[in-house]
Amino acid sequence: MANVIVIGAQWGDEGKGKITDLLSRSADVVVRYQGGVNAGHTIVVKGQTFKLHLIPSGILYPDTECIIGSGTVIDPQVLIAELDQIEELGISTSNLLIAETAHVTMPYHRLIDQASEERRGNHKIGTTGRGIGPTYADKSERTGIRMLDLMDSQGLRDQLEWTINYKNVILEKLYNLPPLEPQKVIDEYLGYAERLRPYVVDASLKIYDAIQRRRNILFEGAQGTLLDLDHGTYPYVTSSNPVAGGACVGTGVGPTMIDRVIGVAKAYTTRVGEGPFPTELDGELGELLCSRGAEFGTTTGRKRRCGWFDAVIGRYAVRINGLDCLAITKLDVLDELEEIKVCVAYEIDGERCEHFPTSARKFTQCRPVYKTLPGWQQSTSNCRSLDDLPRQALDYLKFLAELMEVPIAIVSLGASRDQTIIVEDPIHGPKRALLHADGSPASLLSA
Ligand code: IMP
Repeated sequence: MANVIVIGAQWGDEGKGKITDLLSRSADVVVRYQGGVNAGHTIVVKGQTFKLHLIPSGILYPDTECIIGSGTVIDPQVLIAELDQIEELGISTSNLLIAETAHVTMPYHRLIDQASEERRGNHKIGTTGRGIGPTYADKSERTGIRMLDLMDSQGLRDQLEWTINYKNVILEKLYNLPPLEPQKVIDEYLGYAERLRPYVVDASLKIYDAIQRRRNILFEGAQGTLLDLDHGTYPYVTSSNPVAGGACVGTGVGPTMIDRVIGVAKAYTTRVGEGPFPTELDGELGELLCSRGAEFGTTTGRKRRCGWFDAVIGRYAVRINGLDCLAITKLDVLDELEEIKVCVAYEIDGERCEHFPTSARKFTQCRPVYKTLPGWQQSTSNCRSLDDLPRQALDYLKFLAELMEVPIAIVSLGASRDQTIIVEDPIHGPKRALLHADGSPASLLSA
């Protein structure tokens, strides 16, 4: 029995979808704990591509229970479209459960998100425009609509009439937008409520029951560590907590019930939206990574900014999440390169800095200190074991493991399930602490 959290160790889009999909095979329950339809997982199974925003990737396994947890924000329209898409492919969604305490994204959230970004001009965050920030703001302000409110028709009417009239003042007076018609929105959302009712439960209780029955639970993070509201590159972050600690708050599970935390990082770095990115590559190399890695957002289609692997943020992610091991994805994207750089530290005002600075202003001033490694200039996409990898690729992975002081358990070399090297079972293999006990660099790669 193991309860495992999978998180993104960079700025999101690390390929968590593929890793959670792989790990879902040995999970009885998969739980999404934060974020909303800003996230997007692309999963390829037998040549078929699935794009999921809210539903955990475990849905593809009929015996796996999937839960959308309390810390998420749910756009019912998108969720229903996802359910339809899955059902059209002949896959049942009866194994899905939705937390009744999750908050609901309303039309005014989307409108306010988009209008406020426009207003911010040069100070914009580069949000996905899906209403995420305003939904979480209402949750904090205690004016949010929860799934259980959506299920209560009369209560919803009362609450929405008041809320929409209040939001209309903001839409009209602040953003010069036309007001929403309360009755239209209420009717629309009552329709969504009927479609979603069978799935809505007390998710925390369900998860607790599963833990008591010694089921394997996988907590699936969306976005990544550097987009965390509290620990990321604030204000260029999302409005939830993608870090491992967010899994406990976002599901109602106590920290003592978690056994493992697995981080997912790309073999290089990407970022979508605004904000500092020290290892960003502007020119030809950035374009090459973007095209080889197909670096376009699943949700917005936006081109991702690309750069070298940054071990300073990697070490930060290891610390903030208490990572036991790492999955490195998209190693094959680096196949053509003659040489590969890794940022080992920063320089700020001529001084070397080994740690991630929490101030965005200071982070903007960071200049990367690089170590250059030779590339392997051959395809790795058909490698199925460490022995198949070119020596330089293996050296690159070992270097990352040593720099971040965390073992690498999985290496991914393409989108398909079989394009993967499982170095060590990330769930049942030895824990990081045990590997470090003898003072060795604790690299599963060299074990
Ligand atoms: P929001 O989550 O839509 O409010 O966007 C806030 C920031 O997080 C923006 O920089 C987005 O580009 C980024 N972001 C949100 N979701 C994702 C994701 O799934 N992958 C990568 N970046 C994301």
